[in-house]
Amino acid sequence: MSESGVSYQFVKGLYQTGLLLSNLAEMDRQSLPGEAWDEQGWQRFVQAGVETGLVSVGPELAGFISFWVHDEETELLKLAVIPSYRRQGLGEGLVKALLQRQNSGHRLFLEVRVSNQKALYLYRKMGFTEQGLRRQYYQNPKEDALVLSYMIP
Ligand SMILES: CC(C)(COP(=O)(O)OP(=O)(O)OC[C@H]1O[C@@H](n2cnc3c(N)ncnc32)[C@H](O)[C@@H]1OP(=O)(O)O)[C@@H](O)C(=O)NCCC(=O)NCCS
Repeated sequence: MSESGVSYQFVKGLYQTGLLLSNLAEMDRQSLPGEAWDEQGWQRFVQAGVETGLVSVGPELAGFISFWVHDEETELLKLAVIPSYRRQGLGEGLVKALLQRQNSGHRLFLEVRVSNQKALYLYRKMGFTEQGLRRQYYQNPKEDALVLSYMIP
């Protein structure tokens, strides 16, 4: 844990059970209501190989980043910081912590709602670039997605 009490931890596999799954589902519901997974949804994705990075402030979970790792690229599925901990660098910290786990030449990509200015500012600040548009990619509400990517130097 750092002096500020912020710590990052990565988890994978079925020990993501019980309390952690319900915490993830709750943070997901608060942050990404249109596309949140419930506990069963989290269970299914974890079983299918989704990994998650967690950020805590002291003993409290403040956010998460979830992703699939393929051979040469990682697909970022979800990034969320709970409202009371936003604008403190934790979202950026989660993306940086994920980037640090990968080798040079590895590519990260993600989809983001075209209207999600906060996330777009964050990804652009970190050097992600636009690769294209997926029309009507999202439901609840329907919206296009921008595809962004970042190659680790
Ligand atoms: C997007 C989200 C993860 C950002 O988390 P955060 O911890 O507040 O972000 P950070 O404090 O690390 O901010 C990093 C950068 O993001 C951008 N940013 C974050 N929040 C912003 C806001 N409200 N307005 C403008 N820019 C913002 C800024 O560029 C910021 O850098 P700066 O502080 O130097 O200006 C958070 O707002 C969230 O959980 N939103 C709901 C879920 C979501 O939209 N996830 C992304 C789906 S792809």
